Amino acid sequence: MKITFYGQSCFGIEFSGKHIVTDPFITGNELAKDIDLETIKADYILVSHGHQDHIYDLEALAKRTGATVIAAWEVYNWILAKGVENAHPMNAGGKWKFDFGTVRCVVAQHSSSFPDGTYAGNPLGYVVYNDSEAFYFAGDTALTYDMKLIPMMCPKLTCALLPIGDNFTMDVEQAVIASDFIECDEIIGCHYDTFGFIEIADKEAAKSAFSAKGKRLNLIEIGSSIEF
Ligand code: NI
Ligand code: MN
Repeated sequence: MKITFYGQSCFGIEFSGKHIVTDPFITGNELAKDIDLETIKADYILVSHGHQDHIYDLEALAKRTGATVIAAWEVYNWILAKGVENAHPMNAGGKWKFDFGTVRCVVAQHSSSFPDGTYAGNPLGYVVYNDSEAFYFAGDTALTYDMKLIPMMCPKLTCALLPIGDNFTMDVEQAVIASDFIECDEIIGCHYDTFGFIEIADKEAAKSAFSAKGKRLNLIEIGSSIEF
């Protein structure tokens, strides 16, 4: 799979020949000002929760591309009400087979509301897998013991996209523990540096915290890609 970083928790992931975009937040992100939302391909959009820094460009991206939005029941209804036609509702614990593989919906420990403050259901994480590859998109979450269930329920993870910015989510040290819980050695960090509360001053120290455990923290420059 090929993973391109668009800032915050937004990735473009080529998986089984399809384009999956996570948590579209580009035009509202100063760090992603060189990314052109209009050129991003999407067949599916995975949405972790309703906070602004995860859905800012959801409506625009879904309408332009016709992508299927995969999200919690409440986010699904919200995006349908905005006129998006293709969407699939899920909730924690469930899985569904799509044409690119299976999506297993897992618990995230966070909150979830829309920009106007209304209820957006529970925040979610997703494990996506086919016969040969698997990734975990954690969304915004604390470190949780439930992460230990992931290797019991899903195939071996190729890589995991974990928030590391602290304050609203896990920090680096907790993400190292999470990577043990999910039994994954290739971590892609996200949800850091976008605004003041989540800046990571020492990136090398963050990488060292993972390498000390035999793991790798990949910090992808916005607009750049990594392949597994
Ligand atoms: Ni959030
Ligand atoms: Mn967030």
